[in-house]
Amino acid sequence: MSQPTPFPAAAATALPGAPQLAYRQGRLHLEDASLDALAREHGTPLFVYSKAAMLAALAAYQLGFAGRDAQICYAMKANSALGVLQVFAQAGCGFDIVSGGELERVLAAGGDVRKVIFSGVGKTRAEMRQALSAGIGCFNVESEGELDVLSEVALTMDQVAPVSIRVNPNVDPKTHPYISTGLKGSKFGVAHEDALRIYRHAASLPGLKVTGIDCHIGSQITEATPYLDAMDRMLDLVGTIETAGISIDHIDFGGGLGINYNQDAPPAADALWQMLLAKLDARGYGGKKLMVEPGRSLIGNAGVCLTEVLYLKPGEQKNFCIIDAAMNDLPRPAMYQAFHAIVPVVPSTGTPQTTYDVVGPVCESGDWIGRDRALAVKAGDCLAVLSAGAYCMSMASNYNTRGRAAELLVDGTKAHVIRRRETAADQMRQEQLVSV
Ligand code: LLP
Repeated sequence: MSQPTPFPAAAATALPGAPQLAYRQGRLHLEDASLDALAREHGTPLFVYSKAAMLAALAAYQLGFAGRDAQICYAMKANSALGVLQVFAQAGCGFDIVSGGELERVLAAGGDVRKVIFSGVGKTRAEMRQALSAGIGCFNVESEGELDVLSEVALTMDQVAPVSIRVNPNVDPKTHPYISTGLKGSKFGVAHEDALRIYRHAASLPGLKVTGIDCHIGSQITEATPYLDAMDRMLDLVGTIETAGISIDHIDFGGGLGINYNQDAPPAADALWQMLLAKLDARGYGGKKLMVEPGRSLIGNAGVCLTEVLYLKPGEQKNFCIIDAAMNDLPRPAMYQAFHAIVPVVPSTGTPQTTYDVVGPVCESGDWIGRDRALAVKAGDCLAVLSAGAYCMSMASNYNTRGRAAELLVDGTKAHVIRRRETAADQMRQEQLVSV
């Protein structure tokens, strides 16, 4: 790689993301690929992910768990493109899935099904059968009703289902309410107070084998304290459950570690795990098998979304920068008022800087990607929406009959197309006119 040049003054403090993203010779690069060249070749909107950034994010977890019996299960809801799953599968990851569809993706990407854990509050009988016949590693069960149904389904297949119960530790992760999951009143997990009784029930069911305990307190968590508190609560329970004669082979701490979108400073995965493992050791549970389910922290800052400026529309109260990506491609601002940095791919020198609301073409006022952004741009310029690796393409829709974007995986100078752009014909494939 040639030496990165300093980030242009206009956005000097606003380049969150992997170190693989840098300006060189006045052009934004991801690894050794020039993003404006990729945008010209493949069109926009276009998602581009860095393989090196994904592997570096994974390496932080691997470093944190060095010497431990630990399994990293990538929470693939963050980004379930086959080309992305393939990278994590080849690096030895397991997968945290939440649907039968995600299981099919793991199999298609060559993942090890024995390292699959199945989370989610509403697994259907069909999904349970599918997962049992594939031979997944564990079901993370979220209610008593689900335990009963899973035992019944397993028995009809002459199998015993490995289960962990998701416990709600009632800890505040201090994140957006929509992505906070571990507080009382959340639909997820079983209440801490009910856990022993529910474990006893699970252990009594003939179609189940209790293997573990799990929790997941929320997403985009930027502090260590909620994790440390949740671990204390979980370990209290492990003690109680084992005293009752039910052995817990693995402890799964879920995902949730945040990334830097906008001057966020979450702990690094290895630093966080150093703290958590010290607590685990101090409490005498250091020998247990550990599992984690990171999603965003493995892929979020490895990806960008490239988009073209279509029009600049000055207004009395607001100036609008209308781009060709929209809420159907990047739903996080509309859904969570989330911030994604937006930067020029080739910063221009002569254009004056103006404050814009950056908006898409979708017919909704909620279709904004960034508010009050200082940008020196003109129609036809290419912008990069940063930190777009997680929960963007995986939550993309066809609203306004917009085809979903193409996706590329960059590896050094090479850019592999991992999903071609969706056409209107692709979208209409399942539909038919009523015959008269
Ligand atoms: N495990 C379970 C059981 C989960 O529900 C989730 C995420 C994860 C692991 C992975 O969490 P992560 O490491 O990615 O934070 N769409 C939202 C995020 C939703 C997270 C849902 N569950 C967003 O764009 O912020």
